[in-house]
Amino acid sequence: MSKCAWVTLTTNDAYSLGAMVLAHSLKRVGTVHDLVVMITPTVSEAMRSRLRDVFDLVQEVNVLDSKDAANLAILARPELGITFTKLHCWKLVQYQKCVFLDSDTLVIQNSDELMEREELSAAPEVCWPDCFNSGVFVYRPNEATFNSIIEFAAKNGSFDGGDQGILNSYFSQWAHTDISKHLPYTYNTAAFAVYSYLPAFKEFKNKIKILHFAGKMKPWLLNFNSETKVAQIPPMFTHAGDFIQLWWNIFCDNVHQKLSDQMLPHAEYFFQEEAGLAGALAQVRLGEPRSTEQEAYEASMRRQCWEVGNIDYTGRDSFDNIWKKITETLETKPDGKSADDENASITSITPPEIEIKQTATKLLTSNLPTPSPAKSTTITTNKQAPQPPARQRSKKSK
Ligand code: UDP
Ligand code: GLC
Ligand code: MN
Repeated sequence: MSKCAWVTLTTNDAYSLGAMVLAHSLKRVGTVHDLVVMITPTVSEAMRSRLRDVFDLVQEVNVLDSKDAANLAILARPELGITFTKLHCWKLVQYQKCVFLDSDTLVIQNSDELMEREELSAAPEVCWPDCFNSGVFVYRPNEATFNSIIEFAAKNGSFDGGDQGILNSYFSQWAHTDISKHLPYTYNTAAFAVYSYLPAFKEFKNKIKILHFAGKMKPWLLNFNSETKVAQIPPMFTHAGDFIQLWWNIFCDNVHQKLSDQMLPHAEYFFQEEAGLAGALAQVRLGEPRSTEQEAYEASMRRQCWEVGNIDYTGRDSFDNIWKKITETLETKPDGKSADDENASITSITPPEIEIKQTATKLLTSNLPTPSPAKSTTITTNKQAPQPPARQRSKKSK
């Protein structure tokens, strides 16, 4: 048999959590093929060493974005995202055939037969089925193909700012030629698709081979109870609940004990002081009552969830809880502070808290029962809230 590999990519320690779980999911279903992860220099040393434990090859690649020589030619398209780095997979010429898998995929059943398909085989994109989704695709590593795709991108750009746009334009015959290159949807089933065809999801659930957590929500960003080891499934993802839990089970059984607090924050969170997600998860003890320290780490994780839009509206992040927290905070303010002192302390805290305080001010000064005037003035500020650095990920929110 020719030499084949499963290939994924991670550019930071948070996506590396996905890559680690993915690798273990492949082992769990008994793949006979190699596991390869492409990493960029922004993955921490601690994480690289853990990736080396599970992948047969950890290949460092440079980030393909406007700072890269190959991409300078397409500088006119700044939105071309970091996922363009994926294209490096064509350079793994030590393999004859590969399947690229996003690091937010989970292999549920052995899919080794995919290596018998030809380039470029992929499953339809749920939101536009005449395009393929580039979270799972079969390809043949080849330096000439790599150069040709880069050249193509330099000339035409990517219509979605990432690899999927480029690849769909480059392999445009996919839509209307060889049906054998259309992978069944069960090889790339969207877990979180808002427009999931739920009856079909239910009917064909046991046929799903590869699940894709495409979209802003990732399993590692969902609330997870370290004591019970149960993930909290947002109502709109109930249909995929057991797969989300499977992700966390693999995480608990195979990944958690290997994490280290040397792992770095996601680039998006560099402006915060808290540890990164992987570093925070390293501190959490599974199956034990939570200590105060662990609660603090979990609070930091929850904040990261909040910031990507995963808000537990009816649970911990409910209005009642937020209001309780605001009230407590206001009530514990030391007396006798000047307005300037108040402004100084407000500008030193982070934007979401300011937003909550501003909302609180509005509420206190509008229709809530008898707020004390002193309290409502202490939280007003004319100063501009400090802004986090521009988000580095350019991605669709699906
Ligand atoms: N990726 C990465 N770092 C990032 C963003 C993306 O390593 O900051 C890689 C990772 O393999 C990821 C893939 O690029 O699975 C595509 O991004 P994502 O899965 O977030 O896109 P989606 O499938 O949600 O559209
Ligand atoms: C897509 C794919 C992902 C790809 C991204 C950017 O929706 O799910 O694999 O990297 O968008 O093109
Ligand atoms: Mn993905």
